[in-house]
Amino acid sequence: MSREYTHKEEVTRLSDLKAYTPKLFGIPTGVEGLDELFYKIEIVDGKPIKKSLGGYPYLGIINITGIADTGKSLMAEQFAVKQASMGYRVLFVTVETPREFLVQSLQSRASAMAISLDKVEDNLFIIDAASRTKLREDPDALLDTMAYAIKEYDIKSVVIDSITGLYEAKEVMARSIVRKFYNFLKKWHQTGLLVSQKRSASEELTAEAAGGYGVAHIVDGTIVLYKKLVMSKYDMNLFNIPIGSVVRLMRIDGCRVTGHDTRTYVFEITDTGLVKILSPLEDFIKGRGK
Ligand SMILES: Nc1ncnc2c1ncn2[C@@H]1O[C@H](COP(=O)(O)OP(=O)(O)O)[C@@H](O)[C@H]1O
Ligand SMILES: [Mg+2]
Repeated sequence: MSREYTHKEEVTRLSDLKAYTPKLFGIPTGVEGLDELFYKIEIVDGKPIKKSLGGYPYLGIINITGIADTGKSLMAEQFAVKQASMGYRVLFVTVETPREFLVQSLQSRASAMAISLDKVEDNLFIIDAASRTKLREDPDALLDTMAYAIKEYDIKSVVIDSITGLYEAKEVMARSIVRKFYNFLKKWHQTGLLVSQKRSASEELTAEAAGGYGVAHIVDGTIVLYKKLVMSKYDMNLFNIPIGSVVRLMRIDGCRVTGHDTRTYVFEITDTGLVKILSPLEDFIKGRGK
């Protein structure tokens, strides 16, 4: 009897699920040029039309990965500042930078984005797992603290910089820890941005080797950042920039909750310290390579 009941519960008709399905819309990223790279398909006059989502997919868990100094933290901070400036409360879990320095960094990001600090400071909440060993090393302690913050302060999105910092000394735990945080963020209806450090430069623009193998399979989408040092005549001619320059590249390496641009993009880190998407690599090379 109870067994039959269980089977019935486990099978659902699509139309019955509709009421529980989150709406698909974008959460502005705070990164110029990035919001437009996510899109959805709508039917207009009987034809499927691509429509810009205007940001990260709502309630999506996005992984930003790349080797050191590629702009991951800048993107995480730009997102936090942008959301806070729009009046949405953000929880920033800092795992590498103690909170005093994170605050400094968030201040710089806000200034560069021409957003005054008093517009955002009441909407930004910080958990300092960089300074607090217990929080960094015990995922359940951290999750309990995050649950408290989300309930107490009506948090809408969560940034973790970095998720890899939570399993530094226990690589074999990577997948189970990431899974735990993923399920937690889903349960609490959060849009999430996870930063993960890519240790190997091989397969540069793929999510492979990001944050210990397997992180990319768990999250909803991955953005890969990469920097290339121009050190050969070939690259000099290809990119038409001086030897020793850095070309910064970005790709959305899969996003299962929404459509997205699949091209490789050139981006810059502005002299005020903001990630800004410039143009598809193919256009960049065409435009410069004359
Ligand atoms: N205000 C700034 N002006 C210019 N460059 C900056 C500024 N702030 C950060 N950067 C540069 O941006 C790069 C990426 O920084 P960051 O996002 O911290 O990297 P990641 O988190 O990927 O290691 C660094 O090389 C850093 O030197
Ligand atoms: Mg960083």
